[in-house]
Order: sequence, then structure tokens, then C-alpha cells
Amino acid sequence: MFTETGIAGIRARLGDLRTQGARVALVPTMGALHDGHLALIDAARKIADVVAVSIFVNPLQFGPNEDFARYPRTLESDAAKLAEHGASLLFAPSGGEMHAEGSRTTVTPPAFAASFEGAIRPGHFAGVLTVVAKLFNIVRPDAAVFGRKDLQQLASIRAMVTDLNFPVEIVAVETVRERDGLALSSRNRYLDEPSRRRATRIRDALVAARTAFESGVTDVSGVEAAGRVILAQDGALDVDYFNLVRESDFEIPSVATTGDSIVAAVKVGGTRLIDNILL
Ligand code: PAF
Repeated sequence: MFTETGIAGIRARLGDLRTQGARVALVPTMGALHDGHLALIDAARKIADVVAVSIFVNPLQFGPNEDFARYPRTLESDAAKLAEHGASLLFAPSGGEMHAEGSRTTVTPPAFAASFEGAIRPGHFAGVLTVVAKLFNIVRPDAAVFGRKDLQQLASIRAMVTDLNFPVEIVAVETVRERDGLALSSRNRYLDEPSRRRATRIRDALVAARTAFESGVTDVSGVEAAGRVILAQDGALDVDYFNLVRESDFEIPSVATTGDSIVAAVKVGGTRLIDNILL
């Protein structure tokens, strides 16, 4: 596996591979890689000859009171995992390389990105889309692979690719979970033991809501209530949202339908976790 830290270097290396006819897939990450990221790399290997992985903790997508400074940075062990999983290229740029001083242009997210995560984290999706657009322009991948755990991010990236005509196929990969159902996340490492136990309730609540739908409840508030009641049983869980949405644009449908998703964001002992389930 080759590692590049500069835009010129990665472009040159990919240019050579492309001339040889290679299909390139990009897996954008912020590092602190876990099995969820490795599943993205496995999916990328199935659809491309060259798998490029970016690791960049993107300051634009963190709010002033968020965890940018303490976000885990584990480049050496990440690189070892990537090499083991057959990634071809690691792009690990510096902040200066990605967001040069005097840079003026950003991507405006679609309106639906202002709800849910966007409402709680103003500017977050503009930061995500701006860096993803830059990565697409730097790497020029044929395909890019994202996890379904960040479902609103996935929907926003799909919208950007359609609306701004990026010639990139977006591939979505299922969330990888611990044995007890907790979705893997780089932020799980912030959880102490009691919070870690509590966090499993998020998945329990999502499954309960889906079970209600499967047993015939189609009323949106009825489906949501079946999950919310589980979260309400633990006073230490602070629910930001637990809502049924249409996956393509995060609108709330009039009745629950197969293909909709329930999205959840819950604070557990100071750590904010998100998850979702497909109906
Ligand atoms: O999902 C992430 O890790 C980040 O939001 C992404 C897509 C790498 C952009 O910084």
C-alpha cells in the first residue's frame, strides 16, 4: 500500500493507474478505523481494481463545542489495518493541504440537510459535502463507498452527486454492529462501562419500532412511540431525536412504508450516538 500526503502525489499515482485502465473506488474516512470502516474497504475491493482510502479529520464538519481536538487520531495503526485489508492507496493530507488559507468556496447542502443532524449541528453537512466534493475532485474515483450508519450524510452526498453531476457511483454499506447490537462508531471509545451498557438501548428501541411496523402499525407516531418508550425507561438517555423518515429526503411521510427508516440520535453519558433502522 502506498501512502500519499500531498494532492499532487495522489493525483500522479492515480493518473498512472487510470491510464492502465484501473477502476478506482474511494473510501473517505476520518480514521480511527474499526470493523465498520473495514467493511467499506471490503465492499470497495469487490467493485474496483484500486481502493483509495482517505483519512482526514475534517475541521469544517465540527461545531465549536464538538470533539474536533480530541477526535482519535491513530494514523499508524489505521495504515496497518488498511494494508491488511488490501487497500491500494492511503491519502492522508494535512489540514493546510485540504483547506488552504484563503479558500472561499463551500458546498451548500440540500434543504433537507437542515433537519435532524443539521439542526443540532449547524454547518455540519456543509463541512461534510465540501470535503467530500474536494476528495472527489482530487481522487476522481469511479465509485465511492459510505456507511449507512450516517444515513442523512449518505442522503446528502447522493443529492450532491446528482445535483452537481459528479460522475461517481455512490455505494452504501450496512452498519456493522457489536454482538449486542451497538453500531460501531469511532466515538464508542468515549463510553465508560455503564454508558456502554446503556447504549444498547438505542438498537433495542429501533428494533422495537420496526417490530411494531412489521406487526401492522403504519401510523408514524405509533411506530415511533414503540421505540421511544424503550428509551424513556432509562432517565440517563438524552434523546435528540427518534423519528421515522423517508430515506431519500428525510421528509416525514404521512404513513410508514417499507423502505422508510427510523433515525435516532441519543446522548449517553456525554457521548452523542446516532443509529437507524430500515423498515
Ligand atoms: O463519515 C465520515 O467519516 C466523514 O463525515 C467523511 C465522509 C469522511 C467526511 O469527512
